[in-house]
Amino acid sequence: MKKLTIGVVGAGIYGNYHIHTYCCDKNVERVVFCDLNEERRIATADKYQITGYKTVKEMIAQEQLDAISIATPDPYHFEPAKDAMEAGIKYLFIEKPLATSVKECEELIALAEKHGVKISVDFHKRWDPAYNAIRDEIKKDEDTFIRGYMALDDIIDVPRKWFTWTDKSSPAWFLGVHCYDLIRYITGSEVEKVYAVGNKEVLKKEGYQTYDNIQAILTMKDGSNWTVENNWILPVTFPKSNDGQLVVVTEKKYFKNESYRGVKSFTDKKESIPNYIFMNFTQDSASGFGLEPMQEFVADILSERPFRTSIYDGLQATRIAQAVHDSCESGKVVYL
Ligand SMILES: NC(=O)c1ccc[n+]([C@@H]2O[C@H](COP(=O)([O-])OP(=O)(O)OC[C@H]3O[C@@H](n4cnc5c(N)ncnc54)[C@H](O)[C@@H]3O)[C@@H](O)[C@H]2O)c1
Repeated sequence: MKKLTIGVVGAGIYGNYHIHTYCCDKNVERVVFCDLNEERRIATADKYQITGYKTVKEMIAQEQLDAISIATPDPYHFEPAKDAMEAGIKYLFIEKPLATSVKECEELIALAEKHGVKISVDFHKRWDPAYNAIRDEIKKDEDTFIRGYMALDDIIDVPRKWFTWTDKSSPAWFLGVHCYDLIRYITGSEVEKVYAVGNKEVLKKEGYQTYDNIQAILTMKDGSNWTVENNWILPVTFPKSNDGQLVVVTEKKYFKNESYRGVKSFTDKKESIPNYIFMNFTQDSASGFGLEPMQEFVADILSERPFRTSIYDGLQATRIAQAVHDSCESGKVVYL
């Protein structure tokens, strides 16, 4: 059977997860990457013993790539995706959010249609077994959705230390899009209107120009109302880098899920809550629902199956995130 050659764009925190996952995939023959940052390029090439280029264009010119996997910062997915499609790459895996404006998403869709490119967006919550169990249970009786609540928060070191692009993102772009997509996935319905509020206090004092916290109420076309809360200022003492909850109330049923997945660890240095079902790496293996989107991307290309997430899902999540920001700024309800 044919094996793929994959190029990863961006070898930062998440790009390294992409690279590690593809390197361990028996359906992948060759993994290469590019990163504009020289230090990261050298470190990643050395860690995985693979070839690293500076730019996407250089990588495409030098390699016979079957697919490209994009893990650049939130506001910089558009350029590499455009470059890849114009250079003839037919399969793209793009980190969430697809782009940070509806206009860019629409341009990407037009390019994909023009060049016949298939695109998957990394909304890994669709692979979480707990959320799939809830979705399946509701679907059984075709229950009517009444309301839902989803929270996804990060500790403050995420915007403070993990990124150099904090001001160009927000809790809605970085975390909210996962929630908006999951709500669409669970309900099978689209957002009709959004009302949102946000706070800019804590990060602003440290010189950042973005929100600490955003709360949104989404009214879906099926009539259900969902509250979505995202902040990235949890104290660093929280034993996980993020926290989350999902609550769903339907006509007949009630579901609750917390991001705590059963393991608490206490050492002489710190308390932690490892999420073993999300990601596990050894030198030769990569497993967990956080990595399954990449593994399924490869398997779907080889078996010519449609991807679980589409470029349209990417557009819809961006449309909602943009409406959430517009509502925070205007204080008004925004209709989609
Ligand atoms: N799916 C998830 O749950 C999840 C979790 C975390 C991050 N992410 C997403 O992954 C993306 C990357 O996040 P990160 O934390 O790894 O960021 P990061 O800042 O650690 O890494 C980004 C890397 O991209 C490189 N880069 C930027 N523009 C480039 C370009 N045009 N060509 C080549 N390299 C380029 C930078 O030099 C940097 O090394 C973001 O969109 C983020 O939202 C997804």
